[in-house]
Amino acid sequence: MNIDILTLFPEMFNSIMGESIIGRARNKGIIKINPINIRDFSKNKHNRVDDYPYGGGSGMVLMNQPLFDALKSITQNRKNSRIVYLTPKGKTYNQKIAKVLSNEENLVLLCGHYEGIDQRIIDEWVTDEISIGDYVLTGGELPAMVLIDSIARLIPGVLGKSESFIDESFYSGLLEYPHYTRPSNYKGRKVPEILLSGNHKLIDEWRTKESIRITIERRPDLIAKLFKRDDISMKEKVKLKKMINEVIKISNSKV
Ligand SMILES: C[S@@+](CC[C@H](N)C(=O)[O-])C[C@H]1O[C@@H](n2cnc3c(N)ncnc32)[C@H](O)[C@@H]1O
Repeated sequence: MNIDILTLFPEMFNSIMGESIIGRARNKGIIKINPINIRDFSKNKHNRVDDYPYGGGSGMVLMNQPLFDALKSITQNRKNSRIVYLTPKGKTYNQKIAKVLSNEENLVLLCGHYEGIDQRIIDEWVTDEISIGDYVLTGGELPAMVLIDSIARLIPGVLGKSESFIDESFYSGLLEYPHYTRPSNYKGRKVPEILLSGNHKLIDEWRTKESIRITIERRPDLIAKLFKRDDISMKEKVKLKKMINEVIKISNSKV
């Protein structure tokens, strides 16, 4: 996968996206992360990239010319690029969007700055507007890195054998079950007996029920969404409903 990032701060990417799992995936050539400095495309004699907003008001807007030229130069070689503008006004990012984007061959991430970019660049070039949450950051660089990290780990070969995303929170639609490692008794706090039993069927069942319990407690909205999904069969939904009822019964009996 090729990821081109249009930014005023390319160095931010080379440091953070050069480490750990993403750094390894880059070294193996599974993903190519290419930060491009918008300023390099400025035709202004002082290399300016911002201008005043029409209609007045505070703040500046990223100029059209450098953005237009940068987008034209990137898409010349990559005709089917998906162009994502990171903006608080965009669709709120989630694991489902990460999955969709992880199937793309060419991705362009456009990082705004100041008050943002000219609407005409959005209208002409941008295929998706994405927000990473209901808060405002100073620039699109951190949001772009959030996207890259979450997308890259879904690409085959990026995670090692010991690091799987299948069981993780959100992938299945539920939050993940709790993890434990050695020792089995840590300062009097014991690992749940079932995890030491070696019975994988019972362990899987315990994990699913724990996932359900945590999701009901923290994100009941996710449970409701599961029942609306088309990729889960009626039979599986009935099984899930049964497990949910069992979990609710157990937690009610604890009160
Ligand atoms: C100061 S913000 C601009 C905010 C904009 N004036 C508004 O009110 O919607 C500068 C840039 O940071 C990025 N940004 C800030 N918050 C973001 C968020 N929650 N999600 C994605 N991008 C964000 C965008 O690229 C934006 O153009």
